[in-house]
Amino acid sequence: MNIAAVFNALLVSILAAVLWKHVRLREHASTLEEELALSRQAREAPRETIDYQAALRSLLEEGTRMVCTGRTHTDRVCRFQGLCYSVEAEEFLFLHSNASVMLPSLGPRRFQPALLDLSSVEDHNTQYFNFVELPASALRALPPPLFVPEVALITNRFNPDNLMHIFHDDLLPIFYTMRQFPGLDREARLVFMEGWGPGLHFDLYRLLSPKVPLVREQLKSLGSLLCFPQAYVGLSKVTTWYQYGFVQPQGPKANILVSGNEIRQFTRFFAERLNVSGSEGRGPAGEEYIVLFSRTLNRLILNEAELLLALAQEFQMKTVTVSLEDYAFADVVRLVSNASMLVSMHGAQLITSLFLPRGAVVVELFPYAVNPDHYTPYKTLAGLPHMDLQYVAWQNTKQENTVTYPDRPWDQGGIVHLDRTEQERILQSREVPRHLCCRNPEWLFRIYQDTKVDIPSLLQAIRGAVKAGLGLGKHKWASSLYPSKVRGARCQASVQGATEARLSVSWQTPWNLKFVKVKEVKYEVWIQEQGENAYMPYILTHQNHTFAENIKPFTTYLVWIRCIFSKNLLGPFADVLVCST
Ligand SMILES: *[C@@H]1O[C@H](CO)[C@@H](O)[C@H](O)[C@H]1NC(C)=O
Ligand SMILES: *[C@@H]1O[C@H](CO)[C@@H](O)[C@H](O)[C@H]1NC(C)=O
Ligand SMILES: *[C@@H]1O[C@H](CO)[C@@H](O)[C@H](O)[C@H]1NC(C)=O
Ligand SMILES: *[C@@H]1O[C@H](CO)[C@@H](O)[C@H](O)[C@H]1NC(C)=O
Repeated sequence: MNIAAVFNALLVSILAAVLWKHVRLREHASTLEEELALSRQAREAPRETIDYQAALRSLLEEGTRMVCTGRTHTDRVCRFQGLCYSVEAEEFLFLHSNASVMLPSLGPRRFQPALLDLSSVEDHNTQYFNFVELPASALRALPPPLFVPEVALITNRFNPDNLMHIFHDDLLPIFYTMRQFPGLDREARLVFMEGWGPGLHFDLYRLLSPKVPLVREQLKSLGSLLCFPQAYVGLSKVTTWYQYGFVQPQGPKANILVSGNEIRQFTRFFAERLNVSGSEGRGPAGEEYIVLFSRTLNRLILNEAELLLALAQEFQMKTVTVSLEDYAFADVVRLVSNASMLVSMHGAQLITSLFLPRGAVVVELFPYAVNPDHYTPYKTLAGLPHMDLQYVAWQNTKQENTVTYPDRPWDQGGIVHLDRTEQERILQSREVPRHLCCRNPEWLFRIYQDTKVDIPSLLQAIRGAVKAGLGLGKHKWASSLYPSKVRGARCQASVQGATEARLSVSWQTPWNLKFVKVKEVKYEVWIQEQGENAYMPYILTHQNHTFAENIKPFTTYLVWIRCIFSKNLLGPFADVLVCST
């Protein structure tokens, strides 16, 4: 991370503001108050100049205006005009005037527990946003505000030290929040309020917008009262697929709303910004290759050289190692984005599988006693619809192949600080029981083991799972458009006798069929006797059918019809037909 660059950008903007002041001072004989005000204005380019006095007047007269989307604090994102932040109070300020707007108008529910989540992690009590209310006239008693001229997106990074968290919790949600609201687009000023320094991976955040993001600490150097004429607060959670186990053991989110298509739009943008001209093709020399991710500090693969050789032999491919410690992130992405297979110990580095080409294989290795089914952020990612990755988990089941570190500090998996019986129990245990985040000592002990990979069992696991074979070209992008409703449905009933009747039902193809190439079109028809819960389902290939089985005379039936494309793309039911025999 380049802290100097951030401060340079800030210095330049402050310098520009000071210069501008002198120009303006010569033009207008400004009052002392104006002079002070001008010198406090952040200004980067002339087209972004906002008239300071007008901005101040607008704030005094109109106060803060807030309109939010979302029904609850966990799905809310708010647009603000005239939102201020007091550096001294470390609070956001909502200025009330007779023109201010606060929608939703929650009353005290705004504190139960908060207006919204500032990060994409759901309902985490360190990530809440709220503001303090003041009459707009209080501005006269506060230090002169500095206006941030760009549209701001104010949010929290969840854990900017860890790549998995960076991509899953921050970069993807920020990317799509910026695309949700006009004005944020690609030019927003990101403002990170979680309180961490820029961090090791700040350069990744910088790729999202040409404006350098601000972190909370830097706001102090700008002034004591900051006002945002235009700001969005919060983060869309629509792209996240994993929950980290704060209230229940970790696992895929209950309602995943993102597909591989959106993930890949993001990774394409991101790779371009990293100057990694990605094409889903072959390696540098046009050949296929395997990437073995190597962790160099802990959770080691002890027989890495042997594993490399075995993979190369088994799959007849070049095999290369990378590590986050020894490679620039852009180089890792460059390598991964053309690899046929990525092999890695469980860990944050596996988030780079975001960049794998379609059809590639992800092989995740788990240390002894760590059940792969309990830790599935990368499996879930690989399995997202249209992500088109093949996923294989392998676990070390041989205790003699693991190396433990009971003497290390607790946060690196040490257990000597625990009482004897607990240490003994952990050492005897053959599987870490499901647990909550984040300090479970047994989990930390096991996940920080080093592993000698049993190569025959690993190769067998890969062979077993990669049935389609290795090779990227083999995976075609399959259309997955859903049928629309069938049209013109009608039914005709006829009574054949005292106990027999028939229902003839016909319909026309869905309107969108003529625009879509579909291998197989079928129809599902449900026939339900009115007032009954049960129904008879039929799968049909024609657009009409006469039903005689179980059809009674002088009875009313409800007929539901929908179209199915390619076996599993189920369309909506057409309006129900009511047919009386
Ligand atoms: C707000 O108050 C000001 C001054 O009292 C008045 O001129 C203005 O019309 C009021 N605006 C609204 C929206 O009521
Ligand atoms: C990518 O290349 C452009 C143009 O050469 C350069 O301005 C930019 O800084 C590069 N970005 C990164 C992340 O290296
Ligand atoms: C991937 O391979 C293709 C075809 O050889 C090449 O054009 C492309 O530059 C490679 N991409 C990367 C990121 O190396
Ligand atoms: C039923 O469908 C078939 C094939 O689509 C068609 O040939 C036939 O005329 C239809 N019959 C009726 C009664 O609509």
